Amino acid sequence: MSEVNRLKEQIRHLEQRNIELTLLLESALELQSDTGSGKLPFTMTAIQTLIVALDSRDPYTAGHSSRVALYSLWIARQLGVPEVQCRQFHHAALMHDIGKIGVPDRVLLKADSLDDEEFSVMISHTTIGARILSKMEAEGEHVSASLVAKHHHEKMDGSGYPDGLKGEAIPFFARITAVADAFDAMTTDRPYAKGRSYYDGVQELLRCQDTHFDRQAVQAFAAVMAERNYLRSRSVLEYKDAT
Ligand SMILES: [Fe+2]
Repeated sequence: MSEVNRLKEQIRHLEQRNIELTLLLESALELQSDTGSGKLPFTMTAIQTLIVALDSRDPYTAGHSSRVALYSLWIARQLGVPEVQCRQFHHAALMHDIGKIGVPDRVLLKADSLDDEEFSVMISHTTIGARILSKMEAEGEHVSASLVAKHHHEKMDGSGYPDGLKGEAIPFFARITAVADAFDAMTTDRPYAKGRSYYDGVQELLRCQDTHFDRQAVQAFAAVMAERNYLRSRSVLEYKDAT
């Protein structure tokens, strides 16, 4: 790699890091402003305990949980969900992958693609998560964290898991989390692949609205990300290269 390319790569990495830290800060500010916002079904101590337990299994999920929760919160607000429910949802979305605690390392940490048996084990993180969270939440909450955990991998055309639910049969908050979750998965670097740009991530969500994702949730997310100026299609360097 030439010196120029190495520098470009470093700048790309720093730009990405800058975005991640901005999102982390926004997430921390949202959580901090929860204090005094009324009764929430899960205490922050309970949530943090669960998240620390999960992160100790799979370091990738550390930033993932907080970014997915933040994106989910933004979508819910954009859709006009009352603020008290938005707060409950933010907490629920933080724990959407908590069932991964029950997925063995050989599957959870595998870098290659999963075979059928491994995939069915991975799928179980949705039902395991729902089981864990159902023990903690009171009945009759507007936002059910266990339903979010259980159904955040369902798809609008019924091809998702664990229940193959279709369209509006998928719980509303799980449909929002699905958008946030897929976006973060697409735009995050993995050991085996570079993440896409945020612009490309939103384009992919738009391409898959109605088939995979709830159209309203995708449109709300695209609007929020544009408004917050996260959708510059290419980095400054790439713009320069193109001229
Ligand atoms: Fe998941």
